Amino acid sequence: MATKAPFAFLVRPEEYAATPVPALSEWSSLWAAWDTVTRQMIPDDELLSKPIKLRNACIFYVGHIPTFLAIHLHRATAQGVEGLEEYKGIFERGIDPDVENPELCHDHSEIPDEWPAIKDVLAFQERVRDQVREMYSTRRVDCDGAVARALWLAFEHEAMHLETLLYMLVQSERTQPPNGTVIPDFEAMARESRAMARSNDWFDIPVYNVTLGLDDDEKATRSETYFGWDNEKPSRDVQVAKFSAKARPITNGEYAKYLEELGIETLPVSWTTSATKNGRGSTDGLILANAKRNGTHIKENKGDSFLDGKSVLTVFGVVPLKFAVDWPVMASYDELIGCANWMGGRIPTMEEVKAIYQYVDELKSKELGNKDGKKIPAVNR
Ligand SMILES: [Fe+2]
Repeated sequence: MATKAPFAFLVRPEEYAATPVPALSEWSSLWAAWDTVTRQMIPDDELLSKPIKLRNACIFYVGHIPTFLAIHLHRATAQGVEGLEEYKGIFERGIDPDVENPELCHDHSEIPDEWPAIKDVLAFQERVRDQVREMYSTRRVDCDGAVARALWLAFEHEAMHLETLLYMLVQSERTQPPNGTVIPDFEAMARESRAMARSNDWFDIPVYNVTLGLDDDEKATRSETYFGWDNEKPSRDVQVAKFSAKARPITNGEYAKYLEELGIETLPVSWTTSATKNGRGSTDGLILANAKRNGTHIKENKGDSFLDGKSVLTVFGVVPLKFAVDWPVMASYDELIGCANWMGGRIPTMEEVKAIYQYVDELKSKELGNKDGKKIPAVNR
């Protein structure tokens, strides 16, 4: 309420993918989000650090995004951007866990002895963005299928990296919240969540036929269908057998209980036992100050002893685990399998997740229908 975000995350499909090609305004929104993360949340002296060992240094991603976009626009238009040849060798491809084994992993760009200066990388990024703007101002995007495909591919690529960069940054000790962000009152939120708590029931999901992927003929000169990546094509229909699913994801609280009961000592990487996040301290003081001001404070529960001394990493600093018990847990796939088994279930397959979405969609439509149903007799009377 106090600050206006420079970008918007749309939630309805007809808004976030109204047409196969993003509008220039959607690019502007994505760039604003990207700049917020890369220029405000990563301190300049942290650009060369690697928040997690399986990924590159942060500066790689600042260069990778415009380089990927420029490479695809160059393929579509044969127009290059100054600096592309040099940056292609450094920023074209990221790394994977199997980076050293060419049989398991594609080629990757060589890590240079010295990364280019950030101001040069940002100037290159601006030149590439200018090229995108030109595709719209000359209306080339409307009549050239190759340009349209390149823009969609690069747009989705950037949005995907925005998410992966954030999950890396949340694990870094030096990440900072964007300028002017108000630190949430985590204790009040926990209290509210506790007051509104509902049981996590099982739902029976009936048999569904779901479609995965999409059909996208790359040879078509101008496609009115949506574009897809190689592993999304062609579309395939799958029948999903009936199964039961819990209504919400595994929470930090459920995961904590699982660790405690089984005596597992390895914590997920999204948790920490240190009271402060190096360099910028904990939000603890702030949370307690908020509680004091509001005259409210969650009383220590005797049963919470396992939660004590543990915190969840966030971009605002560490938040005591006891205030985050209702948040979805962030843990590795293998860790979550263990917890799901302990809870009497398993992790759903991709197809089952689609079936859950379909089921929820139908439930919501029915709810809306019921509301309308109640109105119709009144209107008819
Ligand atoms: Fe990438």
